[in-house]
Amino acid sequence: AFEVVCAQSGLTLKVAPGVSVLQALREAGLDRPSSCEQGVCGTCECRVLEGEVDHRDSILSASERAANDVMMTCVSRAKGARLVLDI
Ligand code: FES
Repeated sequence: AFEVVCAQSGLTLKVAPGVSVLQALREAGLDRPSSCEQGVCGTCECRVLEGEVDHRDSILSASERAANDVMMTCVSRAKGARLVLDI
């Protein structure tokens, strides 16, 4: 599990194994858009402020992954214990 901090809304949530960041955000009451939920469309993209992303989508290029400033919340996870998102 890892922690997601939502910088704008002030929410902190735990993302358990088997639960997507997107699902956890929705369970916390945030209305987040999505479409494919398989990491291929880009609808669920979110800006990342802190923490290293474990990118599991099929959209971002190697340089975009390395930049670590956006993530697809439907599939990608955290490498460390915590991510801070711009939502
Ligand atoms: Fe399509 Fe996440 S909903 S990439």
